[in-house]
Amino acid sequence: MPRLVIISNRLPISIQKKPGGSIEYQRSAGGLATGLGSFYKNYESLWIGWPGIVREGLKLEETKLVKDSLKEEKCYPVFMGRRDIDWYYNGFCNRTIWPLFHYFPTYVKYDNEYWETYKKVNKIFFDTVADILQPDDLVWIHDYQLMLLPNLIREMYPEIVIGFFLHIPFPSYELFRLLPWRNEILMGFLGSNLIGFHTYDYARHFQSSVRQLLGLDSLLGQINVNGRIVKVDAFPMGIDYHFYSQASKNKEIINESDKLKEKFGNRKIVISVDRLDYTKGIIKRLKAIDLFLEKNPEYEKKFTLVLVVVPSRIGTKNYFLLKKQIDEMVGYINGKYGSIDWIPIWYLYRQLPLMNLTALYNIADVALVTPLRDGMNLVAKEYLATKAERKGVLILSEMAGAARELGEAIIVNPNDVEAIVEAIKKAFLLSAEEQVEMNRTMNHRLSRYTIEKWAKEFLDNLIKARDTQLEYSTK
Ligand code: G6P
Repeated sequence: MPRLVIISNRLPISIQKKPGGSIEYQRSAGGLATGLGSFYKNYESLWIGWPGIVREGLKLEETKLVKDSLKEEKCYPVFMGRRDIDWYYNGFCNRTIWPLFHYFPTYVKYDNEYWETYKKVNKIFFDTVADILQPDDLVWIHDYQLMLLPNLIREMYPEIVIGFFLHIPFPSYELFRLLPWRNEILMGFLGSNLIGFHTYDYARHFQSSVRQLLGLDSLLGQINVNGRIVKVDAFPMGIDYHFYSQASKNKEIINESDKLKEKFGNRKIVISVDRLDYTKGIIKRLKAIDLFLEKNPEYEKKFTLVLVVVPSRIGTKNYFLLKKQIDEMVGYINGKYGSIDWIPIWYLYRQLPLMNLTALYNIADVALVTPLRDGMNLVAKEYLATKAERKGVLILSEMAGAARELGEAIIVNPNDVEAIVEAIKKAFLLSAEEQVEMNRTMNHRLSRYTIEKWAKEFLDNLIKARDTQLEYSTK
């Protein structure tokens, strides 16, 4: 196996400066870090990305110190100044691409300065990469923050093997075409040998945009770009199945679950776990809880909704406004239905430690996962994995990539509040046998395509793409 160079906007280790001036390193427990963990340890590999702090936040000698400590973890930081972060990350990534690719065209800001900074930052990433890269490396680039990077690398290394994975939806041509910089972005993607998406629909949308905007046809998932073959395929991301499916047997999680159960008593527990984001459908979900209680007063005091909202992108106006709206809705519902001995919604605005979150999955009777649009949604998969051979109902939005693999769940249109209300009622009434049966089928599927399998399959296909290219070039 050649050396693997992983590049993503964020490094799996982030840096924070504490009020006293000390530097804290925090390891991410996210899907990508877990999925690549075994490759990372067992192969020669390194990771390039942003450590989560602006350049102005560190003194020169601290920057050197940080670089050295990260290098020991095979991580290479890309530093950016405050203005670059603002126009690239808050701007082009999260005010332009994120809303457009999630079908929120009215939220999109088309700003030439954002675009120029996006190009500049992709070039800054390229400069860090170019210092480190060797021609026989295997490069794996991740996500919408770095869509121009594949082609920047390709121009310098015509023979190098590059894989790109998009973790968010790729929208239909009718939306993508709205972007003034659409062709440059497609050309950026096409610097890769292999481009991966979570679902076939996203791969199809991408190919349709390439055909209609660049006039390049694709045949059986292969696009010929001036004599170079670019493969496009779907690789639905999985989870650390072993960890979640063993949750009900893990001592620490059992202890935590017992504590929670004691607090909630006999009430049913419904959970909602998301990063703060308007794409997640949190407001519609809360409206559904309000309507459910209005229509079904017999369920008062019979359940608790544990609403976990993980702080995110609060520097962006739409996120800040959403936070206010959620606070108000929770207050409104708790005030309307709550009593001395019952609060309908337990609201936690924070990131929960993995063990506490898994304990919550473990004891939850129902999980409400109703994003308005979501590339995949791993919460749905993690919740289900804790329910192997057990009760627990997943209510899942048809707009989440995960719905393609989890058809046995109760599938809803997240814009249809009445449908969510009916789904909650149905979930409360399903028999234990029915629940176990639904979960068995889905768990079987999840256990076969884990996060490790996902990473391995992508890399195997990347090596195949390299071989296809070699065969094609020697013809
Ligand atoms: C999504 C994106 C990731 C991103 C994550 C957290 O899952 O696909 O690329 O890292 O959200 O968002 P943040 O803006 O905090 O990196």
